[in-house]
Amino acid sequence: MRRTPVYYYSSTSGLVRAFAERLDRPVHNLAEREHRRSEVDGPWVLLTPSYKTGNESNDTIPEAVRRFLRSERNRRLLVGVMGSGNRNFGTYYQKAAREIAQRSGRPVLFEFELAGTPWDVEECERILTDLDAALDARHAAQAG
Ligand SMILES: Cc1cc2nc3c(=O)[nH]c(=O)nc-3n(C[C@H](O)[C@H](O)[C@H](O)COP(=O)(O)O)c2cc1C
Repeated sequence: MRRTPVYYYSSTSGLVRAFAERLDRPVHNLAEREHRRSEVDGPWVLLTPSYKTGNESNDTIPEAVRRFLRSERNRRLLVGVMGSGNRNFGTYYQKAAREIAQRSGRPVLFEFELAGTPWDVEECERILTDLDAALDARHAAQAG
């Protein structure tokens, strides 16, 4: 069964990266130019932190994520969004993930704080494994 890849953005503090690298599937860091400029080879999931900048037109979606989503193919094959945030940001908590989900019509699959707990990693992997199976079934139905 195909393991749906996760494309994530992580800043130098590396909290999202620490989480992503504990998932049992291919993960790609959009902070790296090579990945930011690539196009996906099938359904994929986005994992993004939120960064409130104080500049309303530039809040809170990381630039690398915006860049990756400029590709029509990447937008079309996006199946869901996950977010890392910090509840201290109040109404801005998970704003980037929620805004992308709302604009794209895709579901928020999972949210956690900072680098997540071991439980978060386990729960997220369970959700993604269910997603792998659902996409596999959809693919089989289309082929048959
Ligand atoms: C300057 C700054 C702004 C942030 N703004 C938000 C925000 O608006 N909403 C939120 O939920 N978390 C916010 N966070 C928390 C980060 O999204 C969270 O710590 C995330 O895990 C960082 O991931 P990274 O270390 O991989 O970049 C902010 C953190 C910083 C340092």
